[in-house]
Amino acid sequence: MANTSLIRYRAYALLIVSLLLSVLPQYATARAVREPREDASNALASATRERIDLNPDWRFSRFTTNPDSLSYNTLKNWILPSANNFISGTKHERPSGTPPGNDVQYVKADFDDSAWEALNLPHDWAVKGPFNAPGISGGMGRLPSNGVGWYRKKVTLAKEDLEKTIYLDIDGAMSYSAVWLNGNLVGGWPYGYNSFRLDLTPYAKEGANQLAIRLDNAVDSSRWYPGAGIYRNVWLVKVNPVHVRQYGTYVTTPKVSAQSATVNLAVEVDNTGNASQQINVATEIHLADAATGRPTGQAVATFPAKSISIAKGATQSVNDSVAINNPQLWGPAPTQKPNLYVAVTTISIGNITVDTYETRFGVRSVTYDANKGLLVNGEPVYVQGTCNHHDLGSLGAAFNTRAAERQLQILGEMGTNALRTSHNPPAPEFLELADRLGFMVYDEIFDVWNTQKTKNDFHLIFADWHEPDLRSFIRRDRNHPSVIAWGIGNEIPEQSSAAGGATGKQLRDIVRSEDTRPVTAALNSASGTSVLAGVLDIEGLNYQGEGQGTSNSSAFPGFHSAQPNKMIWSSESSSAISTRGTYIFPVTSSNSATVGTGSGGNSTASQVSAYELYATSWGSSPDKVFTGQDRYDYVAGEFVWTGFDYIGEPTPYDSSRSSYFGIVDMAGFKKDRFYLYQSRWRADLPMAHILPHWTWPDRVGQVTPVHVFSSGDEAELFVNGKSAGRKKKAEYTYRFRWDDVKYEAGELHVVTYKAGKEWATDTKKTVGAAANLKITADRTDIAGDGYDLSFITVAVVDANGDVVPQAGNNVTFSITGPGKIVSTDNGNPADFTVFPSPSRKAFSGLVLSIVRADAGASGDIVVSAASPGLPNASITLHAG
Ligand code: GAL
Repeated sequence: MANTSLIRYRAYALLIVSLLLSVLPQYATARAVREPREDASNALASATRERIDLNPDWRFSRFTTNPDSLSYNTLKNWILPSANNFISGTKHERPSGTPPGNDVQYVKADFDDSAWEALNLPHDWAVKGPFNAPGISGGMGRLPSNGVGWYRKKVTLAKEDLEKTIYLDIDGAMSYSAVWLNGNLVGGWPYGYNSFRLDLTPYAKEGANQLAIRLDNAVDSSRWYPGAGIYRNVWLVKVNPVHVRQYGTYVTTPKVSAQSATVNLAVEVDNTGNASQQINVATEIHLADAATGRPTGQAVATFPAKSISIAKGATQSVNDSVAINNPQLWGPAPTQKPNLYVAVTTISIGNITVDTYETRFGVRSVTYDANKGLLVNGEPVYVQGTCNHHDLGSLGAAFNTRAAERQLQILGEMGTNALRTSHNPPAPEFLELADRLGFMVYDEIFDVWNTQKTKNDFHLIFADWHEPDLRSFIRRDRNHPSVIAWGIGNEIPEQSSAAGGATGKQLRDIVRSEDTRPVTAALNSASGTSVLAGVLDIEGLNYQGEGQGTSNSSAFPGFHSAQPNKMIWSSESSSAISTRGTYIFPVTSSNSATVGTGSGGNSTASQVSAYELYATSWGSSPDKVFTGQDRYDYVAGEFVWTGFDYIGEPTPYDSSRSSYFGIVDMAGFKKDRFYLYQSRWRADLPMAHILPHWTWPDRVGQVTPVHVFSSGDEAELFVNGKSAGRKKKAEYTYRFRWDDVKYEAGELHVVTYKAGKEWATDTKKTVGAAANLKITADRTDIAGDGYDLSFITVAVVDANGDVVPQAGNNVTFSITGPGKIVSTDNGNPADFTVFPSPSRKAFSGLVLSIVRADAGASGDIVVSAASPGLPNASITLHAG
């Protein structure tokens, strides 16, 4: 009993923490607290920053044909000035006269939007389906992401707010945002993955303010599912005219040892008021509370207050340096701890505090060594990374902190220590999670430069937007200790040409003017002697290192000799493909094969064998990648394509809805491959994993190879108690395989050994018919905040409680209490049941339902699962 309540208390504490983190701004605190005023005339100097969650209560409508005759081209001259803080050359001037769209009915306060859909952000308009949207390719996920979307919301401002500067911060909106306030075009931002800020002050008024946001998504705009809509958080920020500017603090730690760390801090202050001001800028550094990220304890270092004068309309910087003694370092889990600090900057005028701004950062040193690989705080850390797309499976692109945290926790369990944000800026909270959980991040911004991959992708606006996109991305993300490299491009079509080299240099120089961390790009065809390779700080090789497809010819030696002082990693590896729980015979005797009919593929069922030996024509099995990595020990590690399956890019079966690349399927269920990576990446964890399942009534007497993934170095397999042989892992082999086993019902049992001692075992049994539903939740205590989620798994089990491996029973979820079933999934890339459907077939025995507690919910939520012919199962969640 005591244990149970302790667990519940812990879970509750964790929920509070994740709730707090989900609402914490990236750098600044949400402070709605008002300082007392001196008198009415000094109102400007009286309030500290407020950051208000603007997600609730929007109205939305999507149009498949243009409803307003607007387009990026007609709006462009009014949108471009939104980039002005992020361009080094001539600023864009806002045209005079009435902007286009000010007369469109949707921007007007009196437009009746009561028939539009009522919703809360983050919102992805496409994810609810239906699939097979006209004009949307398999690559883009077949969901209706195209069209024009209008969002409207009324924002109430008080009289005293009008004396403040009021910003709208949009963490991400897909795409070509244009924003109106009270019928006036304010500005916008085309790239759907970047965060941006607009100044609403000139258009704000007392009382109700009508906000209207137009988004515009073309077909053929992406190689994967882009999502659609305002899919990340939106904030209203109210500050004193004298305030820390957007992304206005920059912390670096140029010298780090166990005894001392030098912390450099630059603070940029804006004065948007109409009088010059004499201000004081002071900063204290505190340790961050591990759970909340908020400052804790006494200050560990203090930057002395500086008094500066700041003219009206000007920006001023304060730069200083202090030492932290015996710093608690940030480092990747599990060998190091992700300790964080918070710099609390206070701006005051006289004795009135006008702004308080928190910057979370970490103290760490990273060395990028051409021969030793990556060293973090002096310790060699092999990069065990995964590439990740931005969507969150059946939730679509709509960002959710808990869903992202769950993905990272599952990857962490596998031994992942690094994440690549392929191929675009992530949600800000993603980096907060990486900082807190101790993952290193390869933060990437572009998939194309000037040459298109799809007709309507970013190449259309690269010339105008690469600089502001790149600068704002780096300024947003550069205080995160998790970020260890900036990715300027993925498989850029012009990577090998002189022109591509020149663009790469331009981008690298922009990065260097914003931060000191290395610049990299993912090269799939350029060589070590290409101009671009010379421009980069880290050589990123996509597939070339292990040899593309069936080739064993490695590009590592060529890069290593052409760029002898540069670290090399596999920016993208493997592109192995499989479907969870699906095994197709015969099984290749090779350690890697290209998928096809008769070679791991079933084009009728659109499934790929989970023997985990099959890959795309440019990819390789994990085993072959490991061989390449181990042959060339100067290589710093790899980023596997991909950690999780994602919507779109359903190679090799374009008719499907989602990818086959994931080590984990889209529902979050582990494929067999998970254990292959775990066996290598967590070599000290005793584990063994047998595949395939052992329920094959149609295969009696037929050859059914048995493979085992284990961190041990020797293994003996028993088939119904009889040894099938004890094997040693040979050099450059990463699995144990018994390829001649003939199927007979019963039991497989493996005993693995390490250095001669028994290490780990696993068993697979032939199971009986479906008899029950087994329902479990990843968390039964969730916050009633309208965001937090419980991931509920139903397994179809036999009378002994063992999962029936090929069960496809239809399961219908229902709910009582203050929560909603948001979506369901089963990880089957060929399942076209819409994501919000409460009914879905199990796939390979499992089905998932994602439940969200309502905002303000407290009490029990009961989730039930029903399936014809089986008893119902239910589980109780506690919200509050
Ligand atoms: C790579 C590309 C990725 C993804 C992958 C699939 O070439 O960089 O974005 O498309 O192929 O194998």
